Amino acid sequence: MKEITINTTISVFNGISDLPLEIQSLMNHAIETRKNAYAPYSRFRVGAAILLDNGKIVLGSNQENAAYPSGLCAERVAIFQAGAIYPNAKIVKLVITAASDTNPTLSPIPPCGACRQSIAEYEFKQEIPIEIYFMGESGEVYKSNSINNLLPLSFDKTSL
Ligand code: THU
Repeated sequence: MKEITINTTISVFNGISDLPLEIQSLMNHAIETRKNAYAPYSRFRVGAAILLDNGKIVLGSNQENAAYPSGLCAERVAIFQAGAIYPNAKIVKLVITAASDTNPTLSPIPPCGACRQSIAEYEFKQEIPIEIYFMGESGEVYKSNSINNLLPLSFDKTSL
């Protein structure tokens, strides 16, 4: 028997004003698009902004459904939209913010497992790491240089 230890690295910024200007701008897009969340059931609003290598910005917010599992997270709305509209573009940065209508959301909100798997698919496909930034409605912003930090030992097409 042996053990494998997997290390992961996250950079922590004190707040939006601590971020590079380009990321502040993307985060402001994500905050703005968070307002478009359709979240009548959870009252939890998530906004995502993607910067592509062609310079385009693609946005997404969570879209819920009375049949709960039919809804979709903000990150996947944005990623799938990017893939659908710009199939050959690479995702350079993904910026996420979340805020609840009912509780203050002061700590960074990471993407859920299904979103991590979807982000991983695009990172493997494009062979360039995706920088991921995430926060609550205010407070610290976490940055990962690649989905690998958030989804170690991921399942991908090489396993098939
Ligand atoms: N949600 C996202 O949009 N992204 C995540 O990564 C986590 C959860 C949404 C889904 C649902 O509309 C609400 O937040 C509560 O789970």
